[in-house]
Amino acid sequence: MQALRRRISEKLISRTNGYFSYSTQKVLDAGQPTAATHPQLLLEGDITPGIAAEEYALRRKRLLELLPDNGLAILASAPVKMMTDVVPYTFRQDADYLFITGCTQPGGVAVLSRECGLCMFMPESDPHDVVWEGQVAGVDASLDTFKADSAFPLKRMNEILPDMIRKSSKIFHNVKTALPSYMNLDAFQKASIGGKVKDISICTHELRWVKSPAEQNLMRQSASIACQALLQTMLFSKSSPNESMLSAKIEYECRIRGAQRMAFNPVVGGGSNAAVIHYSRNDQTIKDGNLVLMDVGCELHGYVSDLTRTWPPCGNFSPAQEELYDLILETNKECIKLCKPGTSIRQLHNYSVEMLKKGLKETGILKNNRNVTQTYNLLNPTSIGHFLGMDVHDCSAVDVDRPLKPGVVITIEPGVYIPSSFDVPDWYKGIGIRIEDEVLITDSGYEVLTGSMPKETQHIKSLLNDYCNGERFETQGNMTVAST
Ligand code: GLY
Ligand code: MN
Repeated sequence: MQALRRRISEKLISRTNGYFSYSTQKVLDAGQPTAATHPQLLLEGDITPGIAAEEYALRRKRLLELLPDNGLAILASAPVKMMTDVVPYTFRQDADYLFITGCTQPGGVAVLSRECGLCMFMPESDPHDVVWEGQVAGVDASLDTFKADSAFPLKRMNEILPDMIRKSSKIFHNVKTALPSYMNLDAFQKASIGGKVKDISICTHELRWVKSPAEQNLMRQSASIACQALLQTMLFSKSSPNESMLSAKIEYECRIRGAQRMAFNPVVGGGSNAAVIHYSRNDQTIKDGNLVLMDVGCELHGYVSDLTRTWPPCGNFSPAQEELYDLILETNKECIKLCKPGTSIRQLHNYSVEMLKKGLKETGILKNNRNVTQTYNLLNPTSIGHFLGMDVHDCSAVDVDRPLKPGVVITIEPGVYIPSSFDVPDWYKGIGIRIEDEVLITDSGYEVLTGSMPKETQHIKSLLNDYCNGERFETQGNMTVAST
């Protein structure tokens, strides 16, 4: 296979007019990896790495089945956000558009109906754009690569789309990426005034909620990269207890393993910064004896990971840290054990709240008075978890009361966040702990996708205190020294 792939790439000799020229044939440059241009990433028949053309066709068929007779779906790609004049921020495709088309590039509008199948309106790049930005997907790529039934330049949308809208009973569009270019069309305005325009996310999230076997594989790989990267970062934290260095390290370790980007800005909170749930400054040194909380994830070919670990970079937990850590770990493990088809996120959440309240009362941090629920909510205002997939907080149109099904991926992320100003003994002040795993619901129960990342205290202590360069390292107080 490798040899075949090498032979193919050796044939690549030049690039002109949007086509790679090979000695034997011309291969379209679709502006994103294809099996022909990136055989190291895609197999023949894949539209994006790991997802075949047939799967994209099935997604579109199922979306059309969810629409009423004569329904029309309009999905625009994500907008490009500019950093300054002609310099854009890194582009990330909208998950619904990617799910339906496989196109990772900006500028297109996809329209679907039972009558026309997939019709793509695509930007046209002029030679000047190609000089500055390289080839982008246009009409040719829509037909060749994304297997659209028809495709037109974007400038023809105002001539073709109004008729499609007028003939439709209902219009479903992606409200998040809606564009004036189609919303300002008279036909769309009329449909809107007539109450015929709806948000499509109810339908797309329904389809994205249960992951296919191919999607499950990508979720496994994305989780595996995040686990390997976080383990390297945990080891690195001993010599470099610094939030910005750990943030750089995790991104480096994810990217060199093939991730396209981080799934979100990593949370790297040392000491009391860990009590800020979505802490993002990541600019402080971590004091000896403090914990660091890292909530991280990466994106691999459109599928994200999300896991959190909390540990003492020095290698040793204080008694108060360990007491709270054990409570969060037990809650994490008990909630994971409850994951199975039929259970809902709401049920898991309610169970976790009872367990955490009980544990926090036993420590004396939570007083059993009439404000107990209010005080608990201050110490942990988060949900036990969320759906995970192409987005980090995935499929928000699906209710958390929905009984889970095989193929759904959720996170389990109990935590406790004690503000420094909170009325507790000093040794508890400013402690923030979260332990987050990804759980795939299976026919018989669950598979923990992030199970390879250590979370037991004895494993963390062992990883941070054992041999290093052949020397035995021992801990004295919070200092680690080589015992020679
Ligand atoms: N890991 C980010 C979040 O769940 O909000
Ligand atoms: Mn999460």
